[in-house]
Amino acid sequence: GAPVEVDISALKPGEKVTAEWRGKPVWIMKRTPEQVAELPSLDGQLADPQSQRKPGELTPVYARNEHRSIKPEILVVVGICTHLGCSPVDRFQAGPQPSLPSDWHGGFLCPCHGSTFDLAGRVFKNKPAPDNLEVPPHKYLSETKLLIG
Ligand code: FES
Repeated sequence: GAPVEVDISALKPGEKVTAEWRGKPVWIMKRTPEQVAELPSLDGQLADPQSQRKPGELTPVYARNEHRSIKPEILVVVGICTHLGCSPVDRFQAGPQPSLPSDWHGGFLCPCHGSTFDLAGRVFKNKPAPDNLEVPPHKYLSETKLLIG
């Protein structure tokens, strides 16, 4: 499949858009500074907080950091659950929500078997999904132009 160019100039903090790459949904989310700052506090609850698993496959070297991204605020992940391939849904709102821990910081919930992911696409421990969401190969062509693939 050809690489896909995405203009993210209109993306506001807290917003997410979906692009299609190789028939897969790729989420591009602009996290707020508060959302980025909260990520390290979740490490103890995650299965692979440093994205050490399958380095060439799940997380490119340039995204093997706390925010799993090139720019700290911009998350780029494939929106397909690493368990059996369902599409997780957004659960950005903090605070008590059905089927989420009471100290939920926002992220993604897979409706099929209840796997939860944080706002870096990192999977929580003891969930059916074994791995973090995949970060696709990508780079920036300019400040606001992203190339996926
Ligand atoms: Fe997502 Fe099973 S497919 S938890």
